[in-house]
Amino acid sequence: MQRGRNMPVSRRKVSVVCVMVLNVLICILMGVTWRYKENNHLKSRTPVTRFWRPEVLNKAFWNKEQHLLDLIYNPNVNFVLSGDSLIELPDWLNDTGPLNPCEPDYRVFTQISDYNSLPQRFQDFLLYLRCRTYPMLMNQPHVCDEKPFLLLVVKSLIPHFDRRQAIRQTWGRAGVVANRTVAMVFLLGNPSPVDHFPNLLEMLVHEEKIHKDLLQWDYRETFFNLTLKEVLFLEWFNQNCPHAQYILKGDDDVFVNTLLIIDLLEGLSDNGAKDVFIGDVISDASPHRDSKLKYYVPESVFEGTYPPYAGGGGYLYSGELALRLYNVSRQVVLYPIDDVYTGMCLKKLGLVPEKHSGFRTFGIEEKYRNNPCIYRSLMLVHSRTPEEMLTIWPWIIHPELDCQ
Ligand SMILES: *[C@@H]1O[C@H](CO)[C@@H](O)[C@H](O)[C@H]1NC(C)=O
Ligand SMILES: *[C@@H]1O[C@H](CO)[C@@H](O)[C@H](O)[C@H]1NC(C)=O
Ligand SMILES: *[C@@H]1O[C@H](CO)[C@@H](O)[C@H](O)[C@H]1NC(C)=O
Ligand SMILES: *[C@@H]1O[C@H](CO)[C@@H](O)[C@H](O)[C@H]1NC(C)=O
Repeated sequence: MQRGRNMPVSRRKVSVVCVMVLNVLICILMGVTWRYKENNHLKSRTPVTRFWRPEVLNKAFWNKEQHLLDLIYNPNVNFVLSGDSLIELPDWLNDTGPLNPCEPDYRVFTQISDYNSLPQRFQDFLLYLRCRTYPMLMNQPHVCDEKPFLLLVVKSLIPHFDRRQAIRQTWGRAGVVANRTVAMVFLLGNPSPVDHFPNLLEMLVHEEKIHKDLLQWDYRETFFNLTLKEVLFLEWFNQNCPHAQYILKGDDDVFVNTLLIIDLLEGLSDNGAKDVFIGDVISDASPHRDSKLKYYVPESVFEGTYPPYAGGGGYLYSGELALRLYNVSRQVVLYPIDDVYTGMCLKKLGLVPEKHSGFRTFGIEEKYRNNPCIYRSLMLVHSRTPEEMLTIWPWIIHPELDCQ
């Protein structure tokens, strides 16, 4: 630097030109070697004749099921042989699954080589992978009679009475909030005897009579069935609440700053509002292959990477997008992780969820937990107990708190 500054102008120009020429040469050289490598690489992998699109070679069960759906919904895709080479059609293209999608699909025993050694939850999931119709046990067809600006949708479990009540008393209060109509529903499955849940049905019936905000379906309430909870909700929305402008969907242990959410939504332009999907977005993720992890997915079930998706703790999207998601969900095979599944549906629609730093589905630093002002600027925080919700809510709604 020192020397450069003292250099006469003409000499400096010459050296700049030299460096540029050198750079160009390096670029060309790198380009050539890279292309050379790539060609070699292609040569070793591309068969002499063109045939399947690369992804068709996938052997994992979910991927095969997805190829079938792709074929059904897009018969124009050039999946089948082009050219005259003799390549055997994989037998899975002839669908031999049960006619009624809710009958157990016994193909899994033969089509998934390690089916019998998979964890029980995968066996359960795969056997009924195609079934998406379950009867409703509790419905609230009138919850959207007054068109909601914001519909709050909370995934809950039957025993979580206290969480639901805390939400009703705080951020999930239905009615007019910040001069906007807010509606609220909880989503529930059905405890199965095999899971040894105590029988809380009478209490649930009582709760439903008082609050009229429970939606319940007759499917077994398990972690992998959360995807069912998602698609059944979308179906319900399509039939019962299609005019709601926005939806916030979250777990029953998140705290939501409803006022800030409404504020954010009011600031959206009409154009931007249509495709809005905001949350704590995770990009470049892949399935976990360690069988001890909660999110483990075996290679025989799924191959590939995950599309960008918003963590299931909570995300915000438009009602119009929910209708499109419902539509496209029929073209996407159920995946055992519900937020990844929603990411897959978004991808099918050609959309990418937007990351917002106000959505903290992975929590916030311990030192901020009890700082009232922090919650003023956050949209959604995981995880909060019912007691914490009742503590935090007054901080949000009391304007006398000075948070400069
Ligand atoms: C699918 O079934 C049809 C009729 O049974 C048969 O002609 C065809 O060869 C089968 N295709 C594959 C790929 O098994
Ligand atoms: C409340 O909302 C209505 C309709 O959206 C609007 O006409 C009215 O001006 C609003 N009131 C206030 C105080 O913002
Ligand atoms: C999901 O629920 C259905 C219907 O109750 C059940 O057959 C299936 O085994 C459940 N799946 C999982 C993974 O629990
Ligand atoms: C749903 O899909 C059908 C056909 O695939 C299309 O005609 C319809 O407009 C779609 N509806 C929405 C809300 O996207």
